[in-house]
Amino acid sequence: MTTSAHSVIAIDGPAASGKSSVARALAAELEFAHIDTGSMYRALTWRLLELGVDTKDPEQVKNALSEIQIDTEIGDGRLVQRLDGHDPIAFIKEDKVSGAVSEVAAVPEVRECLVGLQRQLLISGNLVMEGRDIGSHVFPETPYKFYMDADAEVRAQRRAAEGSVEQIATRDKQDSTRKAAPLAVAEGAQVIDTTYLSLEEVVAEVRSRLGDLSTQEVSTFFSQERNRKPHPCLLFTALVIRFSGVWQKGFFITKFSGVRT
Ligand code: DC
Repeated sequence: MTTSAHSVIAIDGPAASGKSSVARALAAELEFAHIDTGSMYRALTWRLLELGVDTKDPEQVKNALSEIQIDTEIGDGRLVQRLDGHDPIAFIKEDKVSGAVSEVAAVPEVRECLVGLQRQLLISGNLVMEGRDIGSHVFPETPYKFYMDADAEVRAQRRAAEGSVEQIATRDKQDSTRKAAPLAVAEGAQVIDTTYLSLEEVVAEVRSRLGDLSTQEVSTFFSQERNRKPHPCLLFTALVIRFSGVWQKGFFITKFSGVRT
């Protein structure tokens, strides 16, 4: 049985609830890696749009997914991604990506693939992972689950202040009504309403609720995962790595171990 002695702090919540800023600050304080899983759904959406895929058509998305090589690693305390060799970081906040990402994130095969990658990242070290389903689905065994919420109007104002025209209400609805792992408060999650709190206040609140991290261990999720067949995207990536010989540098280790269990 493979187990992990690393810890993961799961932070979920709707768009503009403040979870990204909190996750980043908390990760820096604790010296954990910060993993923004929304950026994984965004990066894939960007690549699909680049390839001319109709993101409204789940069948097209599913077929294109099997052709896209996704590489992830942790570098400098954060997630680094490459899709078919391209770094998507400069494009993932584009309006066209924000407009299509909920459709892509609703496709079960997409979720299965990206969740597999997210779970593998725990091998690399301690994580603060933020998203919509981290406490409910990706790492349900972690004792450290938080759900950030804020008034919908305040969240829309926060996005507008960032210069984004994102349709928060539409995305909330899409994210919380989809069939596959919808946005929901995970069992055992601690809910924090950030509407009237500063970033520092939220981080302090999370810290005080975390208690003494060092005395506890997280999850034996690999024991549950080991009998499951890895998603084809992980296998595909592993083969590419193997034939190119790059994996020997350890660059893609998070994925290769997914096939080894
Ligand atoms: O956090 P964000 O706004 O960057 O997320 C982008 C989209 O990805 C959002 O529509 C919900 C989806 N998402 C998801 O379904 N599951 C996650 N763990 C993270 C994001």
